[in-house]
Amino acid sequence: MVYKTHILPLAIREHSFNLECLENLDASVDEMFAELERRKSQEMLEELCPYFGVVWPAAQALSEWMSENLSTHLAGKSFLELGCGLALPSLLAARLGAAVTATDLHPDVPIFFERNIRRNLAGGNATPVFAYLDWRQLPEQAAPWDWIVASDVLYERSYAGTLLSFLERHLSRGGQALVADPQRPFCEQFEKQIQESSLRFEKHIWPVKTLGQPCVIYRLDRKDPS
Ligand SMILES: C[S@@+](CC[C@H](N)C(=O)[O-])C[C@H]1O[C@@H](n2cnc3c(N)ncnc32)[C@H](O)[C@@H]1O
Repeated sequence: MVYKTHILPLAIREHSFNLECLENLDASVDEMFAELERRKSQEMLEELCPYFGVVWPAAQALSEWMSENLSTHLAGKSFLELGCGLALPSLLAARLGAAVTATDLHPDVPIFFERNIRRNLAGGNATPVFAYLDWRQLPEQAAPWDWIVASDVLYERSYAGTLLSFLERHLSRGGQALVADPQRPFCEQFEKQIQESSLRFEKHIWPVKTLGQPCVIYRLDRKDPS
């Protein structure tokens, strides 16, 4: 699909970014449904909605938190982002020296990813890679990751459990995860489910200028890292 886009300047503390984003998310969603109608497509699929195409407040909160707390912790570490959308945390992690893999299930994400890498990363940064990954279908084998992050991915009831299973399976020993959420209704359920899992969490509250309420950032690791 052809989208109308614009370049959004963003400052994450001392890191400046210019991200190509959708000009108007609602208009792009309407256009997508109109296009599916024209093609008489049976696939009126929610998952083709271009929700990837804006920087959601939780991505901004997560990036600000990472910049404040992890700026000297990511160099040389493997870093996986789930449901990355425009992948601001991945771009920041690459600037901080991590070996980054950004993932999403939407077919148009890699085009934006490539363009935003060209716009925002200098030659000295290791180039992040993109991989299609649907977090509902857990890959049996995948590298254990030092860091796994996700922002604004708890918007369906089943996602909390799926995400936790993914983290339990794919975090390395000593690995850590960050999950940022704008306090959507299933956030509380996520917190309860962490307590029943093999993971433990610290909870951080992070203010976001563009949102009426702060975001929550969960930092998770294994209860028993051995
Ligand atoms: C609300 S957006 C958040 C995007 C980005 N993380 C941010 O905070 O700006 C949700 C993202 O999750 C992706 N997504 C939805 N369901 C998914 C699934 N089952 N597997 C992987 N990604 C998924 C969407 O394509 C979209 O990019």
